[in-house]
Amino acid sequence: MTRIRFISADGSREQIVDAAVDDRLLDVAQAHDQPLEGTCEGAMACSTCHVHLVGGDLDKLPAPSEEEEDMLDFAAGANRQSRLACQVKLTADIHSLDVKIPRTVVDNSR
Ligand code: FES
Repeated sequence: MTRIRFISADGSREQIVDAAVDDRLLDVAQAHDQPLEGTCEGAMACSTCHVHLVGGDLDKLPAPSEEEEDMLDFAAGANRQSRLACQVKLTADIHSLDVKIPRTVVDNSR
């Protein structure tokens, strides 16, 4: 199980959820109403699932594929903590992740 802490773009709100091994980060986020569109449903054609893995948590994940890196080049607000949530699969050795929603995502949940 992985405990995921979603942090809003402005840092004012947090949501902590548990996810299972083999869950995809995008699916977990959407199941908990996080504002990630995931328009292409994982085909690496949209970058609307872009997130920031903060607090050093990027190092818990395997390196992104070349295709993912290429798509991140098009993601607004991408930085060295960026990943595509559709490409992050949770594994048994990932016990927690801090996931920040980028400022470029429009959050209509308020
Ligand atoms: Fe489109 Fe991830 S859902 S790139």
